[in-house]
Amino acid sequence: HDEAAQALFDDLIAKDSRIEPRDWMPEAYRKTLIRQISQHAHSEIIGMQPESNWITRAPSLKRKAILMAKVQDEAGHGLYLYSAAQTLGISREEMMDQLIEGRARYSSIFNYTTPTWADMGAIGWLVDGAAICNQVPLCRASYGPYGRAMVRICKEESFHQRQGFEILLELMQGTEAQREMAQDAVNRWYWPSLMMFGPPDDQSPNSAQSMAWNIKRFSNDDLRQRFVGMLVPQAEVLGVTLPDPNLRFDEETGQYEMSEIDWTEFDEVLAGRGPANAERLRRRRQAHEEGAWVREAAHEYARKQAERALE
Ligand code: 3HC
Repeated sequence: HDEAAQALFDDLIAKDSRIEPRDWMPEAYRKTLIRQISQHAHSEIIGMQPESNWITRAPSLKRKAILMAKVQDEAGHGLYLYSAAQTLGISREEMMDQLIEGRARYSSIFNYTTPTWADMGAIGWLVDGAAICNQVPLCRASYGPYGRAMVRICKEESFHQRQGFEILLELMQGTEAQREMAQDAVNRWYWPSLMMFGPPDDQSPNSAQSMAWNIKRFSNDDLRQRFVGMLVPQAEVLGVTLPDPNLRFDEETGQYEMSEIDWTEFDEVLAGRGPANAERLRRRRQAHEEGAWVREAAHEYARKQAERALE
């Protein structure tokens, strides 16, 4: 039976078709999807923290409303993605516990602090810009629920990226102090946003299998290159300098030459020793504990509904 099922699965992948929750799938396929989708969901939820830090201090009502909308969007992205992961057989509680107990990965980028308002611009432009480069190909991921969740998420991410660009543009057209604040934020977020795409291809243990299963469509380095190619002309429009003196386009290779990325910083952040790792988990735990009454009320309501249905 399993040979036939494996052959059917291989055929669906070979034809670049979708795998749906009810289809037979190799345990390793299920496992790597739970790994990636749950980590993606955790990233969205933790990603709410750096920005929510500025909602009460936004410089205008317009900026406050836009930032609140963006943070709410991230919460929604997290819920779509947790729901997609649940179709693979892991429960929401289990994923919550993994994150809260520090056993789950989430994107390195959210372990950096946001000391100025310009960080809201740099996050929108750089972090959401990187997320778009990474997430557009994921709309075609072979696992149906994941690809479909991505379509909705990508539509909202493009608004996130544009509002970040606009914040930086406004600052760069402002006073000298505002221009310095914007450039400082770009200096601090540029390299960590390149690390979002993951380690170099020759140090990426999951890439080969993920690409064979049409989960990952482009390699970490390819998407990093695509992202830099998107940033260079936009940085010119903004009038900001990308903090890499060796950045240049190589006509022959069609690639951007760039300085070495500091992978020890990446490893430190992944090991939990980034600038804000402890704070992010502390806030997540606190929010989970403070939200316990909502979960209890929802369970009690569902129990009563079920009882009524039996009357
Ligand atoms: N942060 C944390 N961990 C990372 C990472 C990063 N930036 N990049 C890689 N890793 C981890 C991987 O998870 C893997 O560890 P694991 O096996 O324990 O999961 C290890 O480093 C080796 O990396 P690989 O390249 O082998 O792993 P992948 O093939 O999974 O590639 C990835 C990494 C490109 C991040 C891929 O998992 C992916 O595309 N994930 C979905 C996208 C995602 O999670 N994006 C987060 C961006 S933030 C966001 O979306 C919010 C937005 O609204 C701003």
